[in-house]
Amino acid sequence: MESAFDLVDVHKRFRMAGGGWKRALRGVTLSIRAGESVAIIGPSGAGKTTLLRMMNLTLRPDSGEVRVNGIDPGGIGGKELRRLRSMTGTIYQQHNLIPTLRTIHNILAGRLSSWSILRSLYSLIAPRETGRAAEAAHRVGVLDKLWERTDRLSGGEQQRVAIARALIQNPRHLLADEPIASVDPSRADALISLLRKLSDENRKTILVNLHDVPVALRHFPRIVGLSAGKVLFDLPPGEITGDLLIQLYEGDQEMTAGEAYAWIGEAMKESLAG
Ligand SMILES: Nc1ncnc2c1ncn2[C@@H]1O[C@H](COP(=O)(O)OP(=O)(O)OP(=O)(O)O)[C@@H](O)[C@H]1O
Ligand SMILES: [Mg+2]
Repeated sequence: MESAFDLVDVHKRFRMAGGGWKRALRGVTLSIRAGESVAIIGPSGAGKTTLLRMMNLTLRPDSGEVRVNGIDPGGIGGKELRRLRSMTGTIYQQHNLIPTLRTIHNILAGRLSSWSILRSLYSLIAPRETGRAAEAAHRVGVLDKLWERTDRLSGGEQQRVAIARALIQNPRHLLADEPIASVDPSRADALISLLRKLSDENRKTILVNLHDVPVALRHFPRIVGLSAGKVLFDLPPGEITGDLLIQLYEGDQEMTAGEAYAWIGEAMKESLAG
């Protein structure tokens, strides 16, 4: 199968405000094929967001290689680079919606990268691709909120708008950073199912950072465990043990051994029931 993202021995460090350096990625090697569905799990600070930003080319590695669709972005010019970037849609942790705009305008903002500035500004007054925005809103279930101001929407609805905005860009690859962080648990599963369904139907690659381990194990065929900037494991959910999860969240105050085993049990129960 065609490759979507190839990372080879990627290192990234950040200068910290207090001086010194934080090593966010420490030799990550990872290949994602086009059309694959992958969940990244790991404790806070493990480097999950940094990894996503390597893939959407908003960050460059200090050393190592990052290729998208087999292409080295360092070797191409501005126009080609923009085209390569536009193949990936990202839904960020803070979903970057403009609260005072209506839903439809936030959705259409996903098209801005392919529009001229004049056309973009004009679209804020008179949305041009209303039909497309409405279709995307319908697909994620916020059609009735199309003309509502975004800050009047619930956290879960705003998350859906962010997904619609990424969809309207019609990317080949979809990256989502904690898409269920601000959604209540009862809706979390539905939202992830929706993301998986949309990507399956349209044969898009989908890569999701998740704090919720049971949700990751239930919905994704491939789980990458990231810990302190390194890939600890890269396995199908059925092969992930409680011990591996304990190792992954080692030193994380919020996680106990009991919880790790409960996570595995929960995911198993669900898959047996389903
Ligand atoms: N721009 C930056 N400047 C300085 N340090 C950064 C920057 N971005 C990330 N870091 C640091 O790099 C490490 C990895 O950060 P990253 O955001 O990738 O973690 P994460 O796994 O996404 O965490 P979380 O689950 O809390 O979102 C953290 O220690 C973070 O503080
Ligand atoms: Mg993060």
